[in-house]
Amino acid sequence: MLKNIKKLDIKNKKVIIRCDFNVPMENGKIKDDTRIVESLPTIEYAIEEGAKVILLSHLGRIKSEEDKKENTLKPVAEYLSKLLNKKVTFINQTRGAEVEEKIENMKSKSVILLENTRFEDLEDKKESNNDDELAEYWASLGDVFINDAFGTVHRAHASNVGIAKYLPCGIGLLMEKELKYLKKAIEKPKKPYTVILGGSKVSDKIDVIDNLVKKADYILIGGAMAFTFLKSAGFEVGKSINEPDKIGYCTELLDKYSDKIVLPIDIITSDGIDNTDVVNERFINEIKEDEMGLDIGPRTVKVFRQYLEDSKTIFWNGPVGFFEYEKFEKGTKGLLEIISNLKATTIIGGGDTTRAAIGMGYKNKIDHISTGGGASLEVLEGKPLKALEVLNEKK
Ligand code: 3PG
Repeated sequence: MLKNIKKLDIKNKKVIIRCDFNVPMENGKIKDDTRIVESLPTIEYAIEEGAKVILLSHLGRIKSEEDKKENTLKPVAEYLSKLLNKKVTFINQTRGAEVEEKIENMKSKSVILLENTRFEDLEDKKESNNDDELAEYWASLGDVFINDAFGTVHRAHASNVGIAKYLPCGIGLLMEKELKYLKKAIEKPKKPYTVILGGSKVSDKIDVIDNLVKKADYILIGGAMAFTFLKSAGFEVGKSINEPDKIGYCTELLDKYSDKIVLPIDIITSDGIDNTDVVNERFINEIKEDEMGLDIGPRTVKVFRQYLEDSKTIFWNGPVGFFEYEKFEKGTKGLLEIISNLKATTIIGGGDTTRAAIGMGYKNKIDHISTGGGASLEVLEGKPLKALEVLNEKK
């Protein structure tokens, strides 16, 4: 059974909280702090309750000694310290005498962050392969284990799955919030329920589409993925990204769910992503052979608006255009503007869509923006989540 941190006795206990501080960094500077900020409620709660807080997280992927330099969690400790207005002791080790001694001497309400758990990957991928000896060692450092790393919930690591076997455990407040919203999108959405699906490839999202198409009333398709659908419907898509081997799949889907699937009616095209001097607005039957579609057009935004205004639940995964370029961000921005003004429950999942929503200033205007990339996709695919299975199995 999944227990929330509030149901566990943590006063004066050494509480190991697995966070997902896998944040984008450049030269030791944090480029997006969302995951750190979203971890605060659990950490603050544990401090208020008088726990001794030990934080674990991975950062990046560690394949060689060289990777360690770029992927130390030291900047996260410093950043967190500012956010909490409290010292966060960083230990540049993942195990050993210093770790054990510092943890043994912790006072109630103090916070320690250990070094990147994936530093252990240099030896037989111990962290990523859920090595039992490592999991038992980390468990030996604490009294209670809390998993608040939603972004990592689809991975079976020693620090999020193995460790749970050895300690009383539960989930943190971020994990609880993520599951509540994403399950709402999957299991009990208030209807009409509309899904916006974008991103580049149909093949990346087949399981998501198969799972959502049964539950949603409408699926609005944008992004490069729309061109495989448009091609299946018989339109010329020029040089737009599309997947010929998925035409059959899209045709079947269009036949079966013609009442649910809504395709763009106009497209913003250019010569290609490397040559965007000329930008055209085309109806979908006007796309030229030498053009590449890079965003949905304004008429499509209007059509999508009608479905969205009618909806009680809206879930969005995948940007509808090449939003990294200002010229092709209007579709994504337009839809963000629409959904941010609606009364419907609005949920955004997936790394790129989250990046777009936060980057365009909609962080506080959407009901829930997931901190998970791959994790939120696996929730949407309806796959069992490895890090929750182990917690569920516990009494
Ligand atoms: C993520 O950013 O999706 C999670 O932190 C998991 O990271 P990973 O894909 O490197 O396992």
